Amino acid sequence: MDLVEFSALSRRRQSCRSYSGQPVSRDVLEQIINAALCAPSARNCQPYKLYALTGKTAKQASEFTRLPGMNQFTADCPAFIVVVEDTSGIEKAMLKRFLKMQFVPIDIGLVTAHLVLAATAAGVDTCILGGFREEGLSILLGLGGRDSIKLVIAAGYATENYELRKKDRRKPKPVWFLE
Ligand SMILES: Cc1cc2nc3c(=O)[nH]c(=O)nc-3n(C[C@H](O)[C@H](O)[C@H](O)COP(=O)(O)O)c2cc1C
Repeated sequence: MDLVEFSALSRRRQSCRSYSGQPVSRDVLEQIINAALCAPSARNCQPYKLYALTGKTAKQASEFTRLPGMNQFTADCPAFIVVVEDTSGIEKAMLKRFLKMQFVPIDIGLVTAHLVLAATAAGVDTCILGGFREEGLSILLGLGGRDSIKLVIAAGYATENYELRKKDRRKPKPVWFLE
């Protein structure tokens, strides 16, 4: 993939808030996840676990993502990828320093960015969800008390004629070139 293709992919990725309900196959979800697991992480700690939810579990999960006035569109979303923080792989001595330096949320953001771009490349539409009810979702996933859910990614296929929006980004661009 060259830069022109990457730019097109990046523009094509947008938060999808209208799903057709067409299921996403486990095979496609696995391919997306495997591609995203190449994301960089501080000291290669990969401090996360990913849960791919489909079928009945996705239906149940969607309820925990629908908050008053928010995320109602997930009712039709056929799949979710849940990003759970997992610092168990980080050696104890490192843990304190890593948490202090806040690499863990950065790594979680990076894998999430890879997930949504990989999904776009696979023709799957997504929406990152920061709004969800963690307690209910944790119980559904059978998580222990230590594991905390950081983000949920809605994944599915947009309804027909769902328009590609113009990217609404900061102007002037928050970029400085210094020589
Ligand atoms: C950490 C994070 C949390 C978000 N939470 C939500 C959410 O709960 N519901 C929602 O509809 N969009 C959510 N979004 C999507 C953003 O609103 C969206 O990325 C932003 O408006 C830019 O639009 P675009 O993704 O279509 O380019 C979230 C995005 C991020 C990165």
